[in-house]
Amino acid sequence: MAEMRLQKFLARAGVASRRHAEELIAEGRVAVNGVVVTEMGTKVDPAADMVAVDGTVVTLPEETVTFMLHKPAGFVTTMSDPAGRPTAAALMAEEIAVHPSLFPVGRLDTDTTGLLLFTTDGELGHGLLHPRRHVEKTYLALVEGRPDGRDLARLREGVALDDGMTLPAGARLLEGADGERAARLIGTGAGASGRGARHGGKRGRRALEGAGSYVEVRLREGRNRQVRRMLDAVGHPVIALHRQAFGPLDLGDLARGDARPLSDGEMAVLKELAS
Ligand code: URA
Repeated sequence: MAEMRLQKFLARAGVASRRHAEELIAEGRVAVNGVVVTEMGTKVDPAADMVAVDGTVVTLPEETVTFMLHKPAGFVTTMSDPAGRPTAAALMAEEIAVHPSLFPVGRLDTDTTGLLLFTTDGELGHGLLHPRRHVEKTYLALVEGRPDGRDLARLREGVALDDGMTLPAGARLLEGADGERAARLIGTGAGASGRGARHGGKRGRRALEGAGSYVEVRLREGRNRQVRRMLDAVGHPVIALHRQAFGPLDLGDLARGDARPLSDGEMAVLKELAS
């Protein structure tokens, strides 16, 4: 965090208004690193300096931050992996160095690509995952075969899995331009490059030769491997799976392996969803 004027620091810390903070400084009640400061322009580094008022240390409230990561295939959704596999947290190393309390909001399977949120805001993270909130997630799947109307209707109405019926979901076959877009986003399209494309590998290419098709599935719950199990149950096993959207947040053209902070507008919408 950048240096700031002492009176601004005190105001941000909630000790006093800026005007009152100036009075506290003038009265010799404020110390920086143990030395009383009465000079108004004094700057402090909130990360390094210790500020005290009347002998009590004051700190800035921790600002919460939330990032969206485009998780590539092959990365485990965890902060560390005893087996030494590549982790999503390793992709966030720079952000975690600045904000050590970042954690992933839910999880994507190791082989699933796409949108994974990391936040320092525990309330937001848990709120977004709470089953009662029913935040919709949009998945694009490359599947074996071609689901027909009956298969799609079963996905929409609910599929019997070993842990119970699924809630009604969105499901549609992606053909023509929609199919091409899905192929590009999943990374299995003809011109695809990068880690995800390699992940699509031979099976992805086989699908493009006519053995498979693209499906969009929108879920309001988040059971373990749910999309894969639902598509298995209707006879169309998943070849590649990608999460394109989480609620109103879309991955857009964020490159595989990259992360970006959410905008204030995106944060406001997420907080509303989580509350
Ligand atoms: N459903 C799955 O099957 N896998 C994921 O990673 C996410 C949803």
